[in-house]
Amino acid sequence: MRLDAALAMATGMGRKESRLAVNKGQVCVDGTVVRKADYAVKSTDTVTYRGAVLDLREHLYFMLCKPEGTVSTTEDTEESVLRLFPEKYRKRLFCVGRLDKDTTGLLLLTDDGEFDHRLMSPKHHAEKEYLVSLARKISSEEIARLEGGITLENGEKTQPCHIEKQTDTVCKIVLCEGKYHQVKRMFAAVSNRVTALRRIRIGSLPLDPTLADGQWRELTEEEVSLLFPKK
Ligand code: URA
Repeated sequence: MRLDAALAMATGMGRKESRLAVNKGQVCVDGTVVRKADYAVKSTDTVTYRGAVLDLREHLYFMLCKPEGTVSTTEDTEESVLRLFPEKYRKRLFCVGRLDKDTTGLLLLTDDGEFDHRLMSPKHHAEKEYLVSLARKISSEEIARLEGGITLENGEKTQPCHIEKQTDTVCKIVLCEGKYHQVKRMFAAVSNRVTALRRIRIGSLPLDPTLADGQWRELTEEEVSLLFPKK
């Protein structure tokens, strides 16, 4: 990768700004100032910008415990989940799928389009598990109707799913698809209302219980390869 491109990728700077920084001598490769923007950086090189070592990994993968009131968007607005991340990552990351503004819990962010596709495409059936609080008691008969697949208010049919009752008004639901507002619409179809919704797992990856709402961490290499096995 070219040195100016590596600097742009790692810092979120524009390409022109990166080129200027290189020309000004603000970038070192293995301790030596390099002023050539087209210098070919190797993955083993240590590149610094104004003395700080750059993260040159090709892709980044984060788990966020999304707090209520934030929006799963790439737009850099006040309410965006990206505001919970350092500025250097904001231009690079996007959300893997979406959670509603009032939904909390596991949200993945990456800059890897294939990873996103693998987890979100209906073809790959990655499970998503949610903890659901309801406005009124749910019966076994209603659970059975939801599990078998139910017709939503607009005529769409949901696929079979699994529901585990925790209390009369709390359950866990595992879906392999992701229709718009699906969980809320499914419970509305049995005349109930979701009062709180938290995603607690995607595929093999549970929400890290040590993360408080608003906190994030990087996925480990093992977590990434379990979610997204490369051939
Ligand atoms: N289903 C919903 O209704 N909302 C979400 O945020 C996720 C799934």
